[in-house]
Amino acid sequence: TVLDAGGLTVLPAFVDLHCHWRTPGFEYKEDIETGSRAAAAGGYTFVNLMPNTKPVCSSAAQAAMVEQKAAEVGLCGVNQTVSITEDFDGKTIDHLKTLPASVKFITEDGHGVQDNATMARAFAICTQRDITVMSHAEDMEISPWDYRLAEDIETVRNCWLSEYYQTRLHMCHVSTRGAIEAIQMAKLRGAPVTCEVTPHHLWFTNDTCDYRVNPPIRTADDVQALIDAIRSGVVDAIATDHAPHSEEDKLKGMAGMVGSETAFGVCYTKLCKEEGLPLELLSHLMSTRPAEILGLAKGQLEPGYDADFVLADLDTPYIVDKNKLHSKSHNCPFDGAQLYGRVCATVKGGELTYQAEE
Ligand code: DOR
Ligand code: ZN
Ligand code: ZN
Ligand code: ZN
Repeated sequence: TVLDAGGLTVLPAFVDLHCHWRTPGFEYKEDIETGSRAAAAGGYTFVNLMPNTKPVCSSAAQAAMVEQKAAEVGLCGVNQTVSITEDFDGKTIDHLKTLPASVKFITEDGHGVQDNATMARAFAICTQRDITVMSHAEDMEISPWDYRLAEDIETVRNCWLSEYYQTRLHMCHVSTRGAIEAIQMAKLRGAPVTCEVTPHHLWFTNDTCDYRVNPPIRTADDVQALIDAIRSGVVDAIATDHAPHSEEDKLKGMAGMVGSETAFGVCYTKLCKEEGLPLELLSHLMSTRPAEILGLAKGQLEPGYDADFVLADLDTPYIVDKNKLHSKSHNCPFDGAQLYGRVCATVKGGELTYQAEE
């Protein structure tokens, strides 16, 4: 439900299925405190963190450490996802058999599991242990010939494994027509597959933007396919893939952009103002559905309905200024963009976690 709050609009707080903070190992890009502040400033009260840290998060103990630190900061709830292969070596999955029940999500996170038999074993274990596989099929590091084709094939393969083993599969940052059509087909076949798209893959096209990110910025035809899929209900969620990097690391060619603080404005401007989609649909994509996918709505990780909400100004245009972000990193290709949909305040569990300055 969307209520009117004296010119501002009240929305359920946002839940981010896909976020990179950098603890442990890369705190110079983001730490738990700055990541929490950025999330709160973007209207988020819960984020799901990826395991591409140093060391790679392949144990429940390391995940618990990150979740504990986030709880101490107290601005944003956290689930720390664990890696599918130990150390992202693409092969060793023995740690999956001994994970405690607290681990609900695992992912290959950009280090694709190329070997079909290894991935099949991982899916079989996840079915038994009630774990959801989050797949980054579209940002493989090693690719034999044509990246785009290889990524679409990996999406199809993982959808087939999900259907065969009835393993819950969440496809991250879906960005090609081929991938979203494969997911639509898998859903029609009854596979327990969900998917997310990112704000940047909806906003940018590769004829005008060459910002380095994985998956890359795609063609206008791909963007159209994603928007059509949002309209027809194939897309479950919008997730940021918030990927902070220092200026030096960007100059070295590292992929990714910060996204927590611009997600709502980008999506409201693109989807609601330009494409005419209802705000209720955007709220579904940024709050309700991601909370369901994470199990928050059922109270599995944290109660989902304890006064977590956002006050947003939908009417006053504003310009994104990367130097005003709360994230430790400022790798933001939205810098200078004019947006509608500004987060004015965030409330988590009845407490104010963010209030805009002016
Ligand atoms: O561009 C990206 N950067 N894509 C990913 O999936 C990972 C991320 C990162 O960790 O920097
Ligand atoms: Zn990646
Ligand atoms: Zn990824
Ligand atoms: Zn990512």
